[in-house]
Amino acid sequence: MLQPEREQITVAPDGGSEAEQPQWRQDFPIDWPQDNYIARRDFTKFLVLTSLAFTAGQIWIVVQNFFRARRGQSPIRLIAGVDEVPIGGTLMFTYPEQHDQCVLVRLDERSFIAYSRECTHLSCSVVPEPDKRRFFCPCHEGAFDIATGSPIAGPPRRPLARIKLEFRQGSIYAAGLDLRSL
Ligand code: FES
Repeated sequence: MLQPEREQITVAPDGGSEAEQPQWRQDFPIDWPQDNYIARRDFTKFLVLTSLAFTAGQIWIVVQNFFRARRGQSPIRLIAGVDEVPIGGTLMFTYPEQHDQCVLVRLDERSFIAYSRECTHLSCSVVPEPDKRRFFCPCHEGAFDIATGSPIAGPPRRPLARIKLEFRQGSIYAAGLDLRSL
């Protein structure tokens, strides 16, 4: 038969047997060894649950990175001809899906840049204001620099996501999300 561990054996403070204890102690026994044993077991449970939560968090990050990498391999899609966008002008398009609103900006004769229109604060659509050299988010008055996508006013802290561009025979193509901008 298994013997209980020494530290799990309850011993009265006076060292006497249970029958020798006063009535009040028999009515309200305090079992310190068992209490300590349960406290250790609860602590072990806490450690195991914390480890599981940590592992789940790591797996979630890996899955997110996987999908981000896949977005980086998005299809190449025609946006417009170079001549269709005037210098200083903007052009709306969707990429990679029909509901993903984006905007192309022509900064000068040779410079184009494209962003997702999803505000990095709470995902409202930003509105280009090329005359003010910014994108404006009407939800909380956030603003982003039109040339870099960096936040310049309001609550947003991260830049707008950039869209990679490719140029072929006078046309501009969207060629994936620029992961460096995320
Ligand atoms: S959602 Fe754009 S500033 Fe809040």
